[in-house]
Order: sequence, then structure tokens, then C-alpha cells
Amino acid sequence: MGKVYYVSQNVGLGLLVLAVSALATIIALSIAYDKEKAKNQGKPGDGAADSTSMPTPSTTQFTPKEPWDYYRLPGSLVPVSYDVTLWPRLEPNKDGLYIFTGNSSVVFRCVEETDLIIIHSNKLNLTTFNGHHAKLSGLGEATAPTIKKSWLVVKTEYLVVQLSNRLAVGATYVLHTEFLGELADNLEGFYRSEYVEDGVKKVVATSQMQATYARKTFPCFDEPAMKALFNIIIIHNQGTVALSNGREIDSVIEGVPVKVTTFEPTERMSTYLLAFIVSDFVSIQSNQNNNLLIRIWARKKAIDDRQGEYALNVTGPILQFYERYYNAAYPLSKSDQVALPDFNAGAMENWGLVTYRETALLYDPVLSSTGNKERVTSVISHELAHMWFGNLVTLKWWNDLWLNEGFASYVEYLGADYAEPTWNMKDQIVLYDMQKVFAVDALASSHPLSRKEDEVNEPAQISEMFNTISYSKGAVVLRMLSEFITEPVFARGLSAYLNTFAFGNTVYTDLWDHLQQAVENTPEIFIPDSVHNIMNRWTLQMGFPVVTIDTRTGRITQKHFLLDPDSCQEMAGSPTIRAQIIDDAFNLARAKIINTTLALRTTKYLSKERDYIPWESALRNLDYYILMFDRTEVYGALQAYLKKQIQPLFEHFKTITANWTKIPQGHTDQYNQINAIGIACSMGVKGCRELIKSWYRQWMENPVHNPILANLKSTVYCSAIAFGGVEEWDFAWTMFQNATLASEASRLRSAMACTKVPWLLNRYLEYTLDPTKIRKQDATSTVQYIARNVVGMPLAWNFVRARWSYIFQQYGKGSFSFSNLISGITRRFSTEFELQEVCKHTQQH
Ligand SMILES: *[C@@H]1O[C@H](CO)[C@@H](O)[C@H](O)[C@H]1NC(C)=O
Ligand SMILES: *[C@@H]1O[C@H](CO)[C@@H](O)[C@H](O)[C@H]1NC(C)=O
Ligand SMILES: *[C@@H]1O[C@H](CO)[C@@H](O)[C@H](O)[C@H]1NC(C)=O
Ligand SMILES: *[C@@H]1O[C@H](CO)[C@@H](O)[C@H](O)[C@H]1NC(C)=O
Ligand SMILES: *[C@@H]1O[C@H](CO)[C@@H](O)[C@H](O)[C@H]1NC(C)=O
Ligand SMILES: *[C@@H]1O[C@H](CO)[C@@H](O)[C@H](O)[C@H]1NC(C)=O
Ligand SMILES: [Zn+2]
Repeated sequence: MGKVYYVSQNVGLGLLVLAVSALATIIALSIAYDKEKAKNQGKPGDGAADSTSMPTPSTTQFTPKEPWDYYRLPGSLVPVSYDVTLWPRLEPNKDGLYIFTGNSSVVFRCVEETDLIIIHSNKLNLTTFNGHHAKLSGLGEATAPTIKKSWLVVKTEYLVVQLSNRLAVGATYVLHTEFLGELADNLEGFYRSEYVEDGVKKVVATSQMQATYARKTFPCFDEPAMKALFNIIIIHNQGTVALSNGREIDSVIEGVPVKVTTFEPTERMSTYLLAFIVSDFVSIQSNQNNNLLIRIWARKKAIDDRQGEYALNVTGPILQFYERYYNAAYPLSKSDQVALPDFNAGAMENWGLVTYRETALLYDPVLSSTGNKERVTSVISHELAHMWFGNLVTLKWWNDLWLNEGFASYVEYLGADYAEPTWNMKDQIVLYDMQKVFAVDALASSHPLSRKEDEVNEPAQISEMFNTISYSKGAVVLRMLSEFITEPVFARGLSAYLNTFAFGNTVYTDLWDHLQQAVENTPEIFIPDSVHNIMNRWTLQMGFPVVTIDTRTGRITQKHFLLDPDSCQEMAGSPTIRAQIIDDAFNLARAKIINTTLALRTTKYLSKERDYIPWESALRNLDYYILMFDRTEVYGALQAYLKKQIQPLFEHFKTITANWTKIPQGHTDQYNQINAIGIACSMGVKGCRELIKSWYRQWMENPVHNPILANLKSTVYCSAIAFGGVEEWDFAWTMFQNATLASEASRLRSAMACTKVPWLLNRYLEYTLDPTKIRKQDATSTVQYIARNVVGMPLAWNFVRARWSYIFQQYGKGSFSFSNLISGITRRFSTEFELQEVCKHTQQH
């Protein structure tokens, strides 16, 4: 899955400087809370049906006794292929419900004698045949035993079929089921997304299977190692298009008004990578890569506005890059990428049918900013990297998720760099992954990258694996490995790994084996220990070392770096660019290893600095101090200091852009200009606020002509709303509702949180619970934007506390949302009293 950027990357720091770092402890708290919920309700990953009362915790420990009590499949049966027919209805039935119906026949082989068929099935109404939930037949010579009994196990999400006799080892059988499910708007499994075009409401059926939602679509052996071939048929209305992982091979009109689309059989693949979409979307396509069909799908209006063109332009080159890098051809006959109006994560790497949030795939050359463009490139590059790493070769179980996501999070910079060579993409990993994860991994509440297989069983435990440590630490640790064995050797080992295990499953040490082999085959490379041993130090223990060099004696010592020195422990046993010095100094100061004055001193030269990366790094760190002090008496002094430091940068950009009329040439200079304006306005640099107010006023006077440069929109909107009133806010709301470009809507949504007027903020908070005003996918991030605002923080905290159960039930299930919400809101919490508040609340529920 692609990361969700709740705080969009590269929009600059805006009026309120962002920080990923502060109080990540709370993430740990909310994860602990997640676990509590799972324990108490006995049904993990699934919101309580009743949001007002919580069941009393059971005092007796549940001990699994029967095979269906375990969350893992027994392994006695192995799927070979599935024939699946699905029919989603895009109009509600007489009860007002959106549903889908379907049938599935799975061919499986028995590898261990058993009289039980245990297969995943969740929230499906199964048709009964003679009182049983399925039909069984033998294939070839095999005769199937009769079904004695069948039942559903809600807790472990199984359909269990008990047979009168045992299945024979080596024999092959077919299990047939027919079912009905709800096409809900909950962003998981087979679900619906809605949008309005030309005043008409449109409904899309789409899917998100990772990690454990394929079982909500049809009964299946829903584990990543249970790979099989899938023959998919989708029944849909005329005038709509059906898409799935394979290329469509046949589409016939059958009766009125139904069309039946058949897809080519898939390759051998995991259930979590399946995807099904029925929509009235349109596409643009190219065949530039050796006749490989590449298509970009989206709402008709978005395609007509040419918002898909950039994605189409970069997809071909990125695929070519990976084919060379991996030394393996793209494994499929087509590549579809679809932009969805409602989507929980950032994107999802379904094999051959990648799904995206609109902001991660669509780009408008006039209306979008450079940051929007970079995000599109990075997310596409991330997802396409998975087409081989993750999809062709898949980790056996979710405990190794870090390798899958860390890998894609690392190589996304390489693919993006190939597509956009002038952007210095490879340097940006320092800001977006390395410094980000340093902040989280420096806490006593961090955890090692690697987990044991038996520690990750329940769907809720699987969801927890999708976190910053897996994505960002995974990425930087792999980057480090690639750098010390050198990029060509890394690529050779990788290629051997992918070719050896194609269409199969692995554990992380399989990659180490192939990298070790590549090192051994390259005499010029010397490494001090084996790849296994070196990497174990980074993957099996949490945290990272701080290395001290005594410049008088030359003596080098290292210890485990922790921000909270009271939980300090010795370890058993990051070029030194300006940005890293600043980041290190601040981290060392927060850990009380060096004096804060010393860290602040690294920022004294900033009045002379013109480069983006050091500025960004400093602002992120200073932001910690802003967050901690903006409610205290020392804030005045801090503001005066920053005003003095930012003034020259503001003047610099004013000059080089000829009074804000031109766009700076360099990619990162464009980001730095955004920082300069954002910080200058918030610190009160003369002329800044007047400037942005006049731009926004011009737009309000003539809404069809927006005079604000695309790159500066985020910062200008936010500042204009912060220093304006209800008129500025309501104008933004009107433009938000009218926006046809997702990234424009997203900017306005974030900017409306910048107002300092409490009743406007409270009204906005209420809007987040109304999906007709704020989409479900955007609710938690909107609350977070409000909490980032010094006036909004206490309002957001009160809002969440008052509706805790409801919010948890609606938004607490996703992989990212809930912990992000809590950590976002509590980022400014700095007093013992505030910490007690959070602890008290998480425990009460
Ligand atoms: C599956 O459902 C479709 C549509 O209802 C039907 O045409 C087809 O015959 C069914 N397949 C089986 C094997 O029952
Ligand atoms: C499934 O069956 C249950 C019990 O009969 C019913 O309450 C529920 O509405 C059904 N689900 C759908 C989506 O029709
Ligand atoms: C896509 O590529 C074409 C051909 O090189 C170019 O004319 C067009 O401007 C590009 N579109 C975008 C949005 O980059
Ligand atoms: C930090 O260093 C400054 C300058 O060296 C000194 O004046 C100050 O007392 C030091 N603060 C602490 C807490 O050591
Ligand atoms: C920018 O504006 C100032 C004052 O309005 C003017 O003196 C200066 O010539 C302008 N510079 C450019 C490059 O337009
Ligand atoms: C809303 O959007 C439509 C179509 O893009 C446009 O014609 C109309 O002028 C817009 N309304 C406002 C208030 O901008
Ligand atoms: Zn991913």
C-alpha cells in the first residue's frame, strides 16, 4: 500500500510549520488502545456493532482448541485456481442497500489428510444447498465425501465444512459457494465510492483487499502464501466498464441491460492483490512499452481536463526503469491505474490494476503545484516497484511487511529519479524517510523492524504492521545496505532473488541470501561480516546508535539513541550535509545529550542559507519548539528570532521572482520559496501578509480567475484564511465544493483549518462527521489539520473526546487513520497534565 500523507509532502511548511516528530509516544498509546479493543471485543479489526456500550472484558484467557479457533489456516488444503463471478448493483435495492451477488468455485489440492475444509469468509450471506453453505465435488478420479455439517466462525472469519470422510492426499476437489454481500461505503473489501458529475450522482464499485478483505468479497484461502490462478467474470450494466487484474477478453450483452465481461486468467497470485472495479470512468492509453497496454482511468471530467496525462507520461519510463533495474520483464499483459474519489490509503498495488486516491494520480499542468506533481511521480513509482517486489515475489506472511514496504519506499526514489532526473529525488529520502523515522525510532516505545511470524496473527495485528517503522526505517536500512554493498551488486542480488522466487513466496532472509551471493561473486567488494549479521543488528533490535568520536583520543563509542534519557540503555556490543548536522543537533538536544543552546546555534547561520534541504530540516526541528512554546510567554522571543532569520530568504525570493511574478527555476527552490512566504507571513515579516491578502482578495472578486501561482496556493490560502474572517472562510468552502481537481480541493480543505476563529473551527469539526460535506477518507486528516492550529488544538481534542466511540467505530479500523488522528491532535501536548488526560481517556475506553 502507498503511504497516506495526512500532511501533504512538499507543500512547504505553510503558515503552521509541520513536525512529524513531537510526541510520537502517543502513537504507541493509541496502538496499545487498539490492542485493548481487540481483546475486549473478541473480534479484532471489526468495529463494534454497538457504539455506546463496551462489553465487559472477559477475565478468562481464550485458549484456542479447535482448528477453526486459530487465525492461521491449517495448511492441509492448497488452492490451485478459482472461477469467480461477481455482480455489483450500482442502484440500491428495495431496502435501500447496495449489494453484490456472486458465485465462486475453488479448485484445491489436499496435502494432508483431513475431514475439514476451513476457508475464509467474512460478512457474506451464503446460499445453502441442502442445508449446507457450499457444494463439494471431486476433480478427475477423486470422489468427494458428503458434507456432514457446515457453519461460520465469526471471530476467526471462517466458513467451516465438516465432511463425512477424509479427503485424500494428492487428490483435487472443487468447493462451490454462492453469496450475497453489502457494497458498503466503508472503503474496504468490495465497496462503493460516490461522486457527482453535472449534478448527477454516480456510483462506482471498487475494492481494497489488503490485508484481509478478499474474504469479504468471496470465500477464499485469504493468506498471501495461498497463491492461485483467478478466472474472473464481472456482470455489470451497459454503459459501465468492468476492470480486474487481467485484460478483458470478452464482453457480451446478455439480456437487458446486462453485460458480462470475462477477463484473461491471472498469473499465480495472492488474494490481497485482487481488484474489481465497475464504473463509468474513461481512460487514456499508450502502447509505448513493447506493445504493453498502459491505461489511466478516472472520472470523465478529470480525463477531459487532461488530469491523467502526466501519470501516463511517467508510467512507461518508470516501468522501463524497473525492467532494467530488476533485470526482469513486466510480468503482465497490461497496466491499469485508476483514480478513485473515495480511497482509504494513498494507493494500492493490486497486480495490473493499481488504485489511487485522486490526489496521488491526477495532475493538472495549470492548477496543480510542483509538490502535487512530485507526489504523483513518487506514488506511481512506489506502486509500480511492487509489481515485481511484493506481487511477483511475495513475502510469506505479514510479519515481513517491512521488507515489502521498506523496499518500495526506497526504490520509489530511484524510479522517480529516472522519470524526473532534474529533481534530485534521491536526496529527498533524507527528509521524507530518514529524519521522519529517526524521530519515531528514538522513542522508548519504538519496536524492531522484524517481527516473529507467530506474533502477527489477527487482522488488527496485521493492520498495525503498516506503520512508519515498516515504511521509512525499512527504506533507509535498505538504502544503507545498497550503499555499502554498492548499487550494482544490490541490483544483481535482487534480480537473482526475483527470478528464483517468481510467482512464489519468501521470508526476508531469502533476500539476504541472494545479496550475500552477489557480494561473494564480486571480488572487489569486501564487507566486514555477512549480510545476515550486519542486517540483524538493524532489523532485530529497535532504535539506532549515537556514535561519539572523541577528537582528542580518536576513541569511538556508541550507544542506543533515546529521546527520553531516563529509559537509556547501552547497546549490546547518518554526507555530513548541513541538514543532517542541524537535525542531529536538535535530536541530541532533545535527548539531553547536548545543550539546547548548541542546537539552536546551528540555526544562527540560516539568515545566510538559501538551500531548501537545510532550511526544511531546521524548520521541522524548530517546529518542535514552536509547538511546545506557542502557548507560552517565550513565544514572542522565538517569533522575533525566526522573523530575523527568515527575512533575507523572503527578500531573496522576492528579487529572483521579480516581485513574485516568476517561478524559481530549481525544483527544490520552488519548495523553499513556499517555506519563505509561509514562515515570513506567520512571523510577521513586513509586506508578507499584505501581499497574500491582496492575491486572495483578487480571487474573491473574480472566482473564475485565480491569480495565485499554483505552487503558492497552499500557503496563500492558509495565510489569507488565518488573517481573515468568515468571508474568506466561506469563499474557500464554496470553492472547495466546486473544485473539480482533487489536489485543489485538498489544499482548500487544509487551508480552512487555518482560521483563528473558534466558531468557524467548531463548525468545521462538525462537518467532518457528515460524509456529504467531508468524504470519509478525509475526515481524520481534517481533524488533524484543525489540531495543528494553536486555536484549533483544544477544540479538536474536546471534539474527539466527546465522540470517541463513534469516531473509533467509523474511522478506527483502517491501517493508518486512528493512530494518526490521536498523534496529530496531541502533538502539542507537553505537560504532565496533558499526558495524563490522554492516558486517562485511552484507558477508559
Ligand atoms: C454464477 O453466476 C452467474 C450469474 O448469476 C451464472 O450465470 C453462472 O451460471 C453461475 N455459475 C455457477 C457455476 O453457478
Ligand atoms: C444477510 O442476512 C442477514 C440475516 O438474514 C440480513 O439481516 C442481512 O441484511 C443480509 N445482508 C444483506 C447485505 O442483504
Ligand atoms: C506529456 O508528454 C507530452 C509529450 O512529450 C507533452 O507534450 C505533455 O506536455 C506531457 N504532459 C504533461 C502533463 O507533462
Ligand atoms: C548551555 O550553554 C550556554 C552557552 O555555553 C550556557 O550559557 C548555558 O548555561 C548552558 N545551559 C545549560 C543548561 O547547561
Ligand atoms: C518590484 O517592486 C518594487 C517596488 O514596488 C520596484 O521598485 C521594483 O522595480 C520591482 N522589481 C521588479 C523586478 O519588477
Ligand atoms: C463552479 O464550477 C463551474 C464549472 O467548473 C464554473 O462554471 C462556475 O463558475 C464555478 N462557480 C464558482 C462560484 O466559481
Ligand atoms: Zn507499498
